[in-house]
Amino acid sequence: MYFHGTSTVNEKGHLEIGGVDTVALAEQYGTPLYVYDVALIKERARGFCKTFEDLQVKAQVAYASKAFSSIAMFQLIEEEGLSLDVVSGGELYTALTAGFPVERIHFHGNNKSQHEIEMALKAGIGCFVVDNFYELTLLEETCRDLQIKTNILIRVTPGIEAHTHDYILTGQEDSKFGFDLQSGQADEAIKLIQTFEYVSLLGIHSHIGSQIFETTGFVMAAEKLLEKVKTWKEELNYIPKVLNLGGGFGIRYTAEDDPIPVADYVKEIVSVVKSKVDEMKIELPEIWIEPGRSLVGDAGTTLYSIGSRKEIPNVRKYVAVDGGMSDNIRPALYEAKYEAILANRVNDTKDEVVSIAGKCCESGDMLIWDLPLPKSSSDDILAVFCTGAYGYSMANNYNRIPRPPVLFVENGNIDLVVKRETYEDIIKLDLPMKQTIQQK
Ligand code: LLP
Repeated sequence: MYFHGTSTVNEKGHLEIGGVDTVALAEQYGTPLYVYDVALIKERARGFCKTFEDLQVKAQVAYASKAFSSIAMFQLIEEEGLSLDVVSGGELYTALTAGFPVERIHFHGNNKSQHEIEMALKAGIGCFVVDNFYELTLLEETCRDLQIKTNILIRVTPGIEAHTHDYILTGQEDSKFGFDLQSGQADEAIKLIQTFEYVSLLGIHSHIGSQIFETTGFVMAAEKLLEKVKTWKEELNYIPKVLNLGGGFGIRYTAEDDPIPVADYVKEIVSVVKSKVDEMKIELPEIWIEPGRSLVGDAGTTLYSIGSRKEIPNVRKYVAVDGGMSDNIRPALYEAKYEAILANRVNDTKDEVVSIAGKCCESGDMLIWDLPLPKSSSDDILAVFCTGAYGYSMANNYNRIPRPPVLFVENGNIDLVVKRETYEDIIKLDLPMKQTIQQK
């Protein structure tokens, strides 16, 4: 059995996380329930920062908040001294409400609205990561209207095909993101920015994809960018002060995954950047990265109560839980695989193989296929590991199922950081039909 972070089994045979009995958590807070191992998030954050410190490289580690954003999460990230990557007005609003230092926020996105741009500028955003020509012009014009200057990185697509699921692949030429490097779009963007009065180009950004296990893609992306820097230096007299190589570092969801230590990615990236800039005899740019999944993914565990069971002789045993694609859409969307155990009977013999079904009205709502488990019955607690990234943040109200609460646990302490949605919350934006018609 593979336990992440502080997860362990206590004397009752229960799964314990952060020194807290998860079975007691399920009783107290109900299920489904997301539980985050705060010590593990801190360990991951410090791991990234320490690697850069040891290498004596100027760096920023920005948490890609799309992986899991909430006020408490942003406060934890701020305490750890990281920067923050947001991709929407909603993430930015949450960060500002959390009191996150705005100069350490980077604003991403391939279609930022004028309203979002204004909101970020007025707040004093650290930088924008600009995705396309439309945004460049919109940003310069908005800055002029507001009389605010701002820093940007431009996002480029380096033309790298990283090995991961197609839907989470982003560095290839045929992508909706960024300025294409091959066809000269990035060069044109730099030339345009050089004519701008309010927008300054701090550096270059690239993100090749997500859940990547090899350093090759990052190294190739860095090489391609630095080859371009050579041309930009000679032809445009432009040298970036910042090189942001994105996120995407893979984590272990199941025994099939074999991630390398994050320090290895960082070391390889830094080493290739150093050797290229030495060749060019230019100053080493600041190196920024944006991990999301690798900071919070394996720190999250979802607890469910087991309910119904359906056995089809010689075919399959379905065991249903009280959540599903509404709290974890990744298996349905990407065929993502997870491991799980019975939290209340960790040491029991796994004497059957079952498939874990969600409760949504959709055949595709299956959380795990063919999972060895002890023979379970209703009210056993299923703990699904590694749900910390893109679980809560992609949760939805399909079938009008309320979203579960989120707990932070550490050293025996429990902190409720997101409340359970109620049925009242579910209907709070609905208006009765008569009123809607009268308003028209
Ligand atoms: N930076 C940029 C520009 C990104 O687009 C992303 C992820 C990240 C950083 C963080 O990547 P990470 O370190 O978390 O892999 N919903 C999908 C993942 C989508 C990733 C989108 N961008 C999933 O559940 O696997």
